[in-house]
Amino acid sequence: MITLQAASSPAWLRAVMENFDAFLLDHAAAERKASAVALSLITHYPDCKQLVAAMMDLAREELEHFYQVYLRVEERGLHLGPDTKDPYVRALRAEIRNGRDDYFLDRLLVGGIVEARGCERFGMIAEALTDPALQSFYREIAASEAKHDALFVELANEYFPRGSVDQRLEALLAAEAKILRGLAIRPALH
Ligand SMILES: [Fe+2]
Ligand SMILES: [Fe+2]
Repeated sequence: MITLQAASSPAWLRAVMENFDAFLLDHAAAERKASAVALSLITHYPDCKQLVAAMMDLAREELEHFYQVYLRVEERGLHLGPDTKDPYVRALRAEIRNGRDDYFLDRLLVGGIVEARGCERFGMIAEALTDPALQSFYREIAASEAKHDALFVELANEYFPRGSVDQRLEALLAAEAKILRGLAIRPALH
């Protein structure tokens, strides 16, 4: 379980609640990208059996989340938008080091941190929602995402010594907290 170094702001939550349709479209894109990230890890590391098995499950689970959000997008008469870059994910990915091992470790840990932040934010949204059906949907999403950060850390510990995993995770968490502070407030997951 990853402990984030900074909490998301009430201003961000307000922006989401004030434009929930915009948030929902961004959430759909985030789930699609989460599934794609899991598939790209399989593509890059086909020999890592444990990783392949874990990412196979994750890709399917995130795709199911995408489908579930898509149903709600349709229900509201909205339309999925074009692909756009997520500034938070882009800034976090810029922290990923080069070099075979460093790159692999950082990709896993960044994956875990993105999951941890998503889980925190889905939980905040669930508590702020007043529509019971939507609230229970976001509670389910938060519960499902709550397992994913640990999954990435477990994989990192599988392929790297625990000491170097812990040390790098702390450094990336500090970078993430800084990125979060500099992020524009938008009705979006990040
Ligand atoms: Fe998800
Ligand atoms: Fe996830």
